Amino acid sequence: MSGPLLLSIESSCDETGIAVVEGGRRIMSNVVASQVALHAPTGGIVPELAARAHLRWIVPTLDEAWAAAGIRWRDLDGIAVTYGPGLAGSLLVGINFAKALSWVHDMPLVGVNHLEGHVYAAWLLDPGEDETSKVEPVFPLVALVVSGGHTFLAEMTDHLTYRLLGTTVDDAAGEAFDKVGRLLGLGYPGGPAIQKAAEGAVRRDVRFPRAWMGDSYDLSFSGLKTAARRIVADARAEEGIDPDDAETPLGEATTAELAWGFQDAVVDVLATKAARAAREIGARSIILGGGVAANACLRERLAGEAQELGVPLIVPRPGLCTDNGAMIGAAGARRFEAGERAALDLDARPSLPLARR
Ligand code: KG4
Ligand code: ZN
Repeated sequence: MSGPLLLSIESSCDETGIAVVEGGRRIMSNVVASQVALHAPTGGIVPELAARAHLRWIVPTLDEAWAAAGIRWRDLDGIAVTYGPGLAGSLLVGINFAKALSWVHDMPLVGVNHLEGHVYAAWLLDPGEDETSKVEPVFPLVALVVSGGHTFLAEMTDHLTYRLLGTTVDDAAGEAFDKVGRLLGLGYPGGPAIQKAAEGAVRRDVRFPRAWMGDSYDLSFSGLKTAARRIVADARAEEGIDPDDAETPLGEATTAELAWGFQDAVVDVLATKAARAAREIGARSIILGGGVAANACLRERLAGEAQELGVPLIVPRPGLCTDNGAMIGAAGARRFEAGERAALDLDARPSLPLARR
């Protein structure tokens, strides 16, 4: 395969991810150290703990990724690292680690936007796949990125070229999943837990509100979150649970029904807007990425919309939708080939944007 062989490092949030990726497409190794167990007791990420856990796990993660790739330092062409957006303390661990490796091994460094990583995961090959057997993203395309911190729709007319179509005006979709998961007593992270609970829903007629935001491609999830709080409180009252009793959970059937209703509302808005955008710009493909893209219901619904439009939907396997190092190697290779290099003063950019309107 042509293209650079990169070591890629991701530490923007609560996963320490290190991968070796060839040509931005072929994954030679991809190791993720998850902090889910660490943050579960608080039901959300504690930034200080996240940064310390990255420090604790980054060397073992590299060791494992390195051993699995079976390469030598001189085989590598460079190192790619996420420099934003994300938590400052977490980003700095990955950045400083990458800089040290770059200096010691005299290896070029390239800084990668985490959101661009979620987009470029669509170009990664699955095991056994090659460039001829994979369904390729074709420009112009619509990219829908739905993660814990960001949710946006963008048009790409070429590699590394984005026009923002719409973004969330308040919460990210993943954040809403996590908050409603907590409301339903499903634990952290809420996204996978809500999906699992929703699969068991027998009654599927509860309706959560959708914020359509007029004709715009912008999104909003805070109203849905507020509505969920009211719907859950009403359901608890109906089941005769004392409002002061936070310990008693809703019955399993009601929990499943409400999880389904919430998920349906989020998926409906995301899939409808992505399909409308694809139609309007004459997209030749749709790509979906970010942690929430691991959601089976969203994948299925958007695949249906894409099929109706006659364009392929490209969505990475779930493990490449949630944060990982391989996606940073995918985007990093494009930046590397475009001649971009980061200096040793590369700094964390917690609010780094990807695209403009
Ligand atoms: O992209 P990601 O791994 O981290 C960020 O960059 O934020 O996304 C994490 C988010 C969390 O909010 C998590 O609840 C959500 O992705 N998520 C899901 C699923 N798996 C992860 N949401 C819905 N359904 C899932 N299966
Ligand atoms: Zn992410």
